[in-house]
Amino acid sequence: MSNAYSSAAGGAMDKAAAARGLWSSRLAFILAATGSAVGLGNIWKFPYITGENGGGAFVLVYLLCIAAVGLPIMMAEVLIGRRGGHSPVNSMRAITNQEGLKPAWRWVAGIGVLAGFLILSFYSVIGGWAISYVGTAATGQLAGQSAESIGAIFSGLLGDPIKLLLWHTVFMALVMIVVARGVRSGLERAVSILMPALFVLLLIVVGYAMTTGHFGQAVSFLFQPDFSKLTTSGVLVALGHAFFTLSLGMGIMMAYGSYLPKNISIAKTSVAVSLMDTVVALLAGLAIFPIVFANGLEPGAGPGLIFQTLPLAFGQMPMGSLFGTLFFVLLIFAAWTSGISLLEPLVEWLEEQKGMNRTLSTLGAGIACWLLGIASILSLNLWSDVAPLGMFAMFEGKTIFDLLDFLTANILLPLGGLLVAVFVGWFLSRKALEEELSMSPAVFTAWYRVLRYFTPVAVAIVFIYNLV
Ligand code: PHE
Repeated sequence: MSNAYSSAAGGAMDKAAAARGLWSSRLAFILAATGSAVGLGNIWKFPYITGENGGGAFVLVYLLCIAAVGLPIMMAEVLIGRRGGHSPVNSMRAITNQEGLKPAWRWVAGIGVLAGFLILSFYSVIGGWAISYVGTAATGQLAGQSAESIGAIFSGLLGDPIKLLLWHTVFMALVMIVVARGVRSGLERAVSILMPALFVLLLIVVGYAMTTGHFGQAVSFLFQPDFSKLTTSGVLVALGHAFFTLSLGMGIMMAYGSYLPKNISIAKTSVAVSLMDTVVALLAGLAIFPIVFANGLEPGAGPGLIFQTLPLAFGQMPMGSLFGTLFFVLLIFAAWTSGISLLEPLVEWLEEQKGMNRTLSTLGAGIACWLLGIASILSLNLWSDVAPLGMFAMFEGKTIFDLLDFLTANILLPLGGLLVAVFVGWFLSRKALEEELSMSPAVFTAWYRVLRYFTPVAVAIVFIYNLV
């Protein structure tokens, strides 16, 4: 990312160069942040948890969580990163020094290192499913299939640990290669082309979904809240997903924020990233649910939902094999850019704190993650009855895969986000915040109040409710 803005001085040439630098840095931030945010969370996870939690009311709570919890915290994270100017742990350290606060605050960034590691272990397994479906679509296996045979393809994949391991390995390798080389410039270019392409393909599937005759039903499923279907655990899932889908509570936005030029609005860029992320998730919902209803499938089918519905659409639409192949390739890219941002914090931490070089820390972190991923793979087949913490009511019936997902998205990320909100809202000086945010006083006050009072209280209440 360019530093040209910092050397802006002198003649018109310099000014033009500086302006370009500024622009490309703002764009670079948006690309990197969107690349991290938009991923399997939007296309795989959002539709299936919406299906499991009854639709409309859940979506409404999720949107509220994005706006009133996620967005304020994203701004807080970017602010910490830009003010600290370093990796998350060191940014926290710099700020606590500056403001005379306890150095223990830097452990907030430490939670992120752990969460990223745990998430990537199973994220990579799902990324592997997407890789596997590229082959399935490209070889025309989806064409004209019934819902049953599409379902059989999916259960065949889940029941085959060797195949799952192979694709999980490929996905982890893809992530490790980019992280080890430490270059993100090529990736940013890729994001700027592939994200819009994914968007267009989603629109194509939505277009097809409109012809199924069940589009209206899907729209009312997604947007007509029926609060009798909403449970307290559903609220926790919605809140946790807001963190997961925006890549919050992990210090990622701090890391990217450290590249943001001083005169770029943190609020506007955060709104842009959150909006894009939300639009992609809602489009995925509009693509999938008409197909669910048109084929009499179960909305609450769980993690396999998109792999049992989208292939049906690709099997029926004109040029479906081509669109299907393209779609899964783009899904891999979306997952890849997110996967990179999941591994990065741990690798950076190993480099900074343990003095390992980049290659070695990537290898160490990546292989450990890959090993843990094997447990998730086995929990889909051979260990599908194993519920390690099943003795606690909260974890009853949760496999290793379910447990990792729950622990990270619903506990670690909200906890990390809660601490960020408390740190920025209650411990940083107001002057520092006003300097970084430079927004109109009214908007600033609104953000500040939400971050101080609403966000921590909301997260705490949802937590406590679910514990007891
Ligand atoms: N936001 C990513 C997604 O929606 C996943 C992710 C979570 C990435 C947390 C980084 C940190 O797929």
